Amino acid sequence: MTARLLPGAPVAEAVLADVTARAARLREAGVVPSLATILVGDDDASAGYIRIKQRQAAELGFESPHRHLPADATQAELHEVIAGFNTDKTVHGVLIQYPIPGHLDYDAALQTLDPDKDVDGMHPLNMGRLAVGLPGPLPCTPAGIEALLAHHEIPVAGREVVILGRGATLGRPLAMLLAQKRPTANAAVTVVHTGVADWPRYTQRAEILIAAAGVPGIIQPEHVKPGAVVIGAGVRYEGRRLLPDVDEACAEVAGAITPRVGGVGPTTVAMLFRNAIQAAERTLL
Ligand SMILES: NC(=O)c1ccc[n+]([C@@H]2O[C@H](COP(=O)([O-])OP(=O)(O)OC[C@H]3O[C@@H](n4cnc5c(N)ncnc54)[C@H](OP(=O)(O)O)[C@@H]3O)[C@@H](O)[C@H]2O)c1
Repeated sequence: MTARLLPGAPVAEAVLADVTARAARLREAGVVPSLATILVGDDDASAGYIRIKQRQAAELGFESPHRHLPADATQAELHEVIAGFNTDKTVHGVLIQYPIPGHLDYDAALQTLDPDKDVDGMHPLNMGRLAVGLPGPLPCTPAGIEALLAHHEIPVAGREVVILGRGATLGRPLAMLLAQKRPTANAAVTVVHTGVADWPRYTQRAEILIAAAGVPGIIQPEHVKPGAVVIGAGVRYEGRRLLPDVDEACAEVAGAITPRVGGVGPTTVAMLFRNAIQAAERTLL
């Protein structure tokens, strides 16, 4: 069997087309949507990601004010920049590019951000909103995975979803999201991790298997139920080389699978802008 591919690009295109239309409507109503970015240090890859997001922001009809702090910036200086964007009513979303230099505490910085401007959806208050089902910015990669499944018309409701990994950015919020009572979620979700030594017992029965471990090649064909949907979200980078959790040979067993490159990634960026446009729209309420 060779699995159907589940690319992320058409999902991202659909989401971004919607964001563009909403941004144009906001501008007509006198609100210029704005996504601010903060970069600390001189990491080339991070600077590149910021440039891509700024270019995309411009294409979508957003302003994107930017602050670049030097690599030796202090925690207080970072908090000061965040505080400035928090109080700036023309700024609706703020992105703190990760990673930041090792002497700085990212989580502490994130906690000073206005939760309503948290376009990554990672502020502890937004995790809490997700846990109790209150509206708020959703964590981008989990929300992107839900959108990817919905776009490719893969039923999730009532089905057995197994997630390998319980990390704070991916596995844990994804489990909460896919268990919510909503037509594109509503699944029977199981989360496995290093504490479950016989985790293949669970993945082998999954109708939808989501790899979120960050361990290259951890998911092998024998871990996949024939015909299952396999979503590869976990990756590790060795230099520029991307090493996915899901071994390519799984495509011979799965019914549908994300491609090695261009699966979950593009949906994550689209969700960032979806969170930003929602934040901008809230100013009209
Ligand atoms: N595609 C995207 O856009 C995107 C976005 C965000 C994150 N990611 C990727 O998603 C992955 C997870 O991110 P994260 O921040 O949630 O990472 P994390 O905090 O390191 O979590 C990894 C999880 O995998 C589990 N795990 C690791 N090795 C395992 C093993 N041998 N057997 C069973 N479970 C194992 C860990 O179990 P324990 O809890 O027991 O240690 C942990 O729960 C990373 O590869 C990251 O790069 C991708």
